[in-house]
Amino acid sequence: MRQKIVAGNWKMNTLIEEGAALAKNIADRINEVPSDVQLILAPPFTHLDRVNGIIKGTAAALSAQNCADKDKGAYTGEVSAAMLASTGCKYVILGHSERREYYHETSATLNDKMALALANGLKPIFCVGEKLEEREAGRHFEVVGAQIREVIFNLSPEQLAQVVIAYEPVWAIGTGKTATSAQAQEIHAFIRKTLAEKYGALSEEISILYGGSCKPSNARELFAQKDIDGGLIGGASLKADDFIAIAQSY
Ligand code: 13P
Repeated sequence: MRQKIVAGNWKMNTLIEEGAALAKNIADRINEVPSDVQLILAPPFTHLDRVNGIIKGTAAALSAQNCADKDKGAYTGEVSAAMLASTGCKYVILGHSERREYYHETSATLNDKMALALANGLKPIFCVGEKLEEREAGRHFEVVGAQIREVIFNLSPEQLAQVVIAYEPVWAIGTGKTATSAQAQEIHAFIRKTLAEKYGALSEEISILYGGSCKPSNARELFAQKDIDGGLIGGASLKADDFIAIAQSY
């Protein structure tokens, strides 16, 4: 059985008190979430320690949104995987399209980040997804396949077993346009097939999340698809009611 996951990527939103209140609201209602769904909160770096204190001892897990591609030392402004683990993070989102696009993250950088995250006991939530023009040109399988091969294929099977994959079509992020459940299922199945080429049956164990304008009104249909194991939620994760309702959509 694959782990069902609903993860909230808060992105660069909430001041510390707002973030703490949101985490508290979610923690107080955690028993409304089915016990087989792993809830994950990914607040900004500045909130991690505080949110960890709020959700510690509950079934929710803490994630960061990024980590450095270096181990430690003179890299002003960076936050290492070891630092994240020391704040209580169990997960780290890597390769989000916003980081690829605005901060020029490449597969080479992501290989280093993945290795450091795994070496520090963090489970990477590795994001892939095509841009609108790539989908319109019919290149989405090629693009997503390359994103998987260039990074994931460097992992040992033991390492892959620690990884969660998130498919987030860039054209669906924050736009209100969701991939149809059929479009999402098609590419999730493709991702699993690609993983199977190298890792065989292990591909069946890997959770693949959908992200991109996922909300209470469409989560149920998306999560009903065979190869969709949950969601990576942006905007709707900033409202406890919506986030919990999404987690109840299985
Ligand atoms: P939205 O849910 O706001 O579209 O964001 C999705 C996302 O990028 C999650 O990482």
